[in-house]
Amino acid sequence: MELTDTTFPFDIAILGLGYVGLPTALAMNSAGRKVIGLDVSAERLEVIRSQHADLLPSDNMRLAKALQDPDFTMSTDLSQLAHAAAVIVCVPTPVDPYLVPDLGILRSACASVVEFAVPGQLLMLTSTTYVGSTRDLLALPLEAKGLLPGRDLFIAFSPERINPGVDAYSHEDVPRVVGGMTPACGEKAAALLSASAHLIHTVPSAEVAEMTKLVENTFRAVNISLANEFADICHELGLSVIDVIDAASTKPYGFMPFTPGPGAGGHCIPCDPHYLLWQLRKARVGAPLIEHAMAGLAGRPLKVVERARRILSDQNHGVAGSRVLVLGVAYKPNVEDLRESPALEIMSALIADGAEVAYHDPWCPTAPDGHGGQLKSVSTPEAWNADLVILHTRHSGMDVDWLADAPAVLDTTYRLAERSNVSRL
Ligand SMILES: NC(=O)c1ccc[n+]([C@@H]2O[C@H](COP(=O)([O-])OP(=O)(O)OC[C@H]3O[C@@H](n4cnc5c(N)ncnc54)[C@H](O)[C@@H]3O)[C@@H](O)[C@H]2O)c1
Repeated sequence: MELTDTTFPFDIAILGLGYVGLPTALAMNSAGRKVIGLDVSAERLEVIRSQHADLLPSDNMRLAKALQDPDFTMSTDLSQLAHAAAVIVCVPTPVDPYLVPDLGILRSACASVVEFAVPGQLLMLTSTTYVGSTRDLLALPLEAKGLLPGRDLFIAFSPERINPGVDAYSHEDVPRVVGGMTPACGEKAAALLSASAHLIHTVPSAEVAEMTKLVENTFRAVNISLANEFADICHELGLSVIDVIDAASTKPYGFMPFTPGPGAGGHCIPCDPHYLLWQLRKARVGAPLIEHAMAGLAGRPLKVVERARRILSDQNHGVAGSRVLVLGVAYKPNVEDLRESPALEIMSALIADGAEVAYHDPWCPTAPDGHGGQLKSVSTPEAWNADLVILHTRHSGMDVDWLADAPAVLDTTYRLAERSNVSRL
């Protein structure tokens, strides 16, 4: 099968046009491929068509071009999957409130891929998931339909490494890891990806590729947790953890800096390691280091609340009735993404304790309050008269000068200049 195979009207169908799928579709379109983007949400397609999707400026430019290009189409009609030479699955893989993987969306998306699969197609999973997903959700159901990988069609896994909100690396400059169900599947998938990535690293199996993503994000989770622990240790010893980490970072080998903070948010770090832990539980295999790190991350937002309580108490305030403003609620700078943001848990806990809570975030006009309601970003935080400001996420260009006049500031970014009214987490 060539990517320019004339038997298929589309070169590539991207299933799931979110933070990962949309930039992937745009990169493939920029590389001259005929792309159809598929999503179950008509609302999401409208956001994309009206150019309101949360994208890097470079991807916004690509989108403006793609919307004028007859070789870029979008649809909610998943039967279109049958008309693409290659299918790339980019749907969410969240965890539920009990931190158990919620595979419902991935299962449903893969069931659609299986339903509409036709011989000759290349089917590639990119959603982060447990080891064995590509086999369980694509290869085995297709084999049951008489379609064998490597013979009738091609099946592979390639983890996505996109970093929303950060434009340090272009889509094309981030190497891709890929593993096929058979060597031929791996080769087909590598050929597809080479259109939008300069470097492809092919591994021996889809399972190795699945585990690669879990290692990458578990590595980050463990190290963020370690950085948080060092922050607490430094706090007790009266040291600035940032001074310490910056100094350690001068070592040219054997050290990689991670920054402490209010917890870990987004769709990756707080979720992905739980896919690994979940499957290890079934195998009765322990992973105490990872479990500890994940528990540390999950407990971090309540540490912020505890610290806020102490700062208010030092000012002779109880939490109940105090006015607390959270500055920046997105899970990281320069994105609109609120998924798993520690800020949500912090605000919810403070509200439960009777505080009057507001927030300011130009990227997030509304945010759930954790009690069934919605909060709206206040436009002039400096005029809100907070007893305590919690700096949670510092977007580029965010004004923090006014914090010099706030009665008390809790800096969970560890980066604010030292001042008498500033406490570090
Ligand atoms: N967001 C990141 O920074 C990032 C980075 C690397 C990898 N990943 C992984 O990529 C995957 C996708 O994450 P995301 O952040 O792009 O998710 P997202 O929530 O931004 O987007 C997913 C899209 O899929 C659509 N969708 C849901 N169910 C569908 C279905 N059955 N069929 C078709 N479309 C469906 C949704 O409407 C949504 O538009 C996840 O596995 C995630 O772990 C995410």
